[in-house]
Amino acid sequence: MIGRALSDSPAGYGAVTRAFHGAIAALVLWQFAMVLAYRLLGEHNATLNAIYGVAPHGPVGLLVLLLVIPRAVWAFANRKRRPSYSAGLAGRLARAAHVLIYALLVLVPTVAVVRQYGKGKGWDVFGIRLFEPTGVTNDALVAIADATHSPMSWTLLALIGGHAAAAALHGLVWKDRVVGRMFGRRARALDAAAR
Ligand code: HEM
Ligand code: HEM
Repeated sequence: MIGRALSDSPAGYGAVTRAFHGAIAALVLWQFAMVLAYRLLGEHNATLNAIYGVAPHGPVGLLVLLLVIPRAVWAFANRKRRPSYSAGLAGRLARAAHVLIYALLVLVPTVAVVRQYGKGKGWDVFGIRLFEPTGVTNDALVAIADATHSPMSWTLLALIGGHAAAAALHGLVWKDRVVGRMFGRRARALDAAAR
């Protein structure tokens, strides 16, 4: 029974997928909230700097990368028993959006980590030395990240916006069981599926 609650089923996502979804959503929304807050309030706002210091951009982004890999492995391991997409255009769109979101959740932090390495200045994350300073800059690596990190991030935000809007439509307008597959009591999703 516990195994069933942890794993995904055709009627709803299990506890592990839900935990990954919630944790990564919170971290990614934090990234955008901080970037936008800095744009709004400027670089020198003391309160903002204090909040930012608790969970800075680079380490939080790295955590997203470290979480999205086991999340993708878990999704793959559960692929035969996950909720399925509807057959029409909406289902195809949802699947494409989810695949794109996964791809960007890997690519956005990866190019930034590569840039950090390419700068040659070293990188310590929460006291752990990830890269030694080399004093040598790899201009090509830095240029690739400079050209891609920002546009890919904003594309990700646009997809997330569409994704949340779709969830709102399902929950508030169509009132179907899609939101119940990721949130709320799983029993309800199971009951709904059995109807
Ligand atoms: C803002 C609030 C959010 C809501 C209300 C929400 C809602 C949902 C719902 C209802 C599903 C299940 C859809 C289905 O069964 O077809 C889902 C799946 C998914 N969501 Fe979200 N979501 C939110 C934020 C996010 C964010 C920020 C991300 C990415 C960082 C994200 C990525 C995904 C992915 C990739 C899936 C596919 C299932 C999986 O493989 O885990 N969601 N979401
Ligand atoms: C899911 C993870 C991440 C998200 C969603 C994200 C998002 C963003 C966004 C929205 C911007 C602002 C772009 C602009 O001003 O147009 C940005 C900039 C930046 N990010 Fe990230 N980021 C992530 C991971 C990382 C990581 C892991 C690092 C460091 C290793 C990093 C380093 C930077 C730097 C240095 C900038 C300023 C230069 C630039 O715009 O490329 N980011 N990020």
